This record gives sequence, structure tokens and C-alpha cells, in this order.
Amino acid sequence: MSHLPAVQAERLDKSFPREGGAERVLDNIDFTVHKGEIVSLLGPSGCGKSTLLNVLGGFEKADSGAVLIGGEPVVRPSRKCVMLFQDYGLLPWRSLLGNVELGLEPLKLPKQEQRERAMRYVKLVGLEDKSASFPHQLSGGMKQRAALARALAMQPELLLMDEPFAALDTFTRYALQDELLRIHAKERVTVMIVTHDIDEAVYLSDRVLIMQPSPGRVAKEIAIDAARPRDRGHGDFQHYRKLILEQFRFTGSAAEEEFTI
Ligand SMILES: Nc1ncnc2c1ncn2[C@@H]1O[C@H](COP(=O)(O)OP(=O)(O)OP(=O)(O)O)[C@@H](O)[C@H]1O
Ligand SMILES: [Mg+2]
Repeated sequence: MSHLPAVQAERLDKSFPREGGAERVLDNIDFTVHKGEIVSLLGPSGCGKSTLLNVLGGFEKADSGAVLIGGEPVVRPSRKCVMLFQDYGLLPWRSLLGNVELGLEPLKLPKQEQRERAMRYVKLVGLEDKSASFPHQLSGGMKQRAALARALAMQPELLLMDEPFAALDTFTRYALQDELLRIHAKERVTVMIVTHDIDEAVYLSDRVLIMQPSPGRVAKEIAIDAARPRDRGHGDFQHYRKLILEQFRFTGSAAEEEFTI
């Protein structure tokens, strides 16, 4: 196995045209993610998180700078990197198992092998008894699990997640966060996750990259050196939460109560 970093973002700049000029959405973004790390991108709406994820995945091009995945430049989307979208992206006319198999079809594996591999990942996310169900027969949390199974079945080096749990209720969100950590411990995939939710970032991440808008940039990097499983009620957790809140100047009694950016 090589010791190259999983992701290298090197001096990425990107602007979108605007009336009377251009808006700089990514400004000199420069960071490294190591193999097996979970890194969150946290920041207010419009600061460029989705744009950055799209550039990392090869879905959009930066104006300048480079992205390397496993040491190789990204010029277009590839199977090394899978993006998990918030709307799940499941095909309604395929069963859950059929949806998971979808990502494997380009590999042209023997039918039996394709089915077994898909089923292994359906089991990994705890949905074996729903494998024949269609997306409309699944709850939101189950659909998100199915999308995760499909992404993992492709055995990517890098999993990009854009607010994957934002549409879910608190209980399902917490359960899926635990599931992601359990699966991560087993598969050791590198994960980059966009979130608005400070608690989610502290609960999941090895490192949090804090982004600020206008121009979109990484303003601060915070390493979360707390053992897992993390306890949301523990002092360490509150310490990191406060550290992050301070970055957004949201400290104070009202902001401490309930917070999403
Ligand atoms: N294809 C595009 N064309 C023009 N402008 C765009 C395009 N995509 C994004 N933008 C602009 O770039 C900025 C950053 O958008 P982006 O979607 O990356 O933000 P974000 O941090 O993901 O926000 P949110 O948290 O609301 O999802 C915004 O001002 C947005 O309007
Ligand atoms: Mg976004």
C-alpha cells in the first residue's frame, strides 16, 4: 500500500461569473487528507462547500490549482471516488439490491459475483431483510443506508458526502452517524463530509475544516483528539463544540442552546 495522502487539494481557486464581474467561491484552498481519515467541511450556506466537494470528485473544474487522489490528478469523475448526495439518487424502478448492483455493473463481474458483493454491502448497512423492497417502500433512513451501501460496494478510495443526514430526524441521524463510524472502522475508507451541524462534525471527524464565505476559504482546521465512541454529553465534546462556535463568533448563552449555521 502506498503512503501517499488520500486527498491533496493544492491551491484551488474557482470563480463563478456574476453580473458585473465574478464571485470567487474557492480561494486558495489547500489541504491534505490522510488515508482512513474522516474530515468534515463545516461552514455557512454559500461558502463553497458543495463546490469544493464537486471539484474534489472531478464533477467541476477549478480555475487553477490541482486535486490529487492517491497521488493521481483528478481530471474527471472516477470510480476511486464516490459522491453520496442528499437526495439518495436511488432508481425507483429497481429494488434495493438492484440499486446497489447498479454501481457494480460497469465492472462486468459474473452475475453471481455481482449479486454476492452487492448483498454483502446491503448486509453491512443492516438492510438484508429489505433487499427486495423498492425505494418507495423504504423510510428516509433506509434510503440513505441503501445509498451508502451502493457507494461502499464500489469500494472507493474516497467517499464524499454532501450533507448526507440533513433531511433525517434526530434519532435516525444519530443512528446513521453510528452506523457510518462502525462501517468506517471495518472498511477504512477515507471520508469527506459536508455538514452544517457542529455536533455532527465533532461526533464524526478526525479533523474539521472550517470554511468562511466571500471568498470561500478554509479559515481554520481543528483536530478532534477525542476517543471514540464520543459522548455528546462529555466535557471534551463541549470543549470542541465551543472551539468551533468561537470560530463563527456564535458564543454566548442563546447561541449555545441550539445551533445549526
Ligand atoms: N454552477 C454555479 N453557477 C454559478 N454560481 C454557482 C454555481 N454553483 C454554486 N454557485 C455559487 O457559489 C457559491 C457557493 O455555492 P455552494 O453550493 O458551493 O455553497 P455551499 O457552501 O454548499 O452552500 P449550502 O450550505 O447552502 O449548500 C454560492 O454563491 C452559489 O450561488
Ligand atoms: Mg451545499
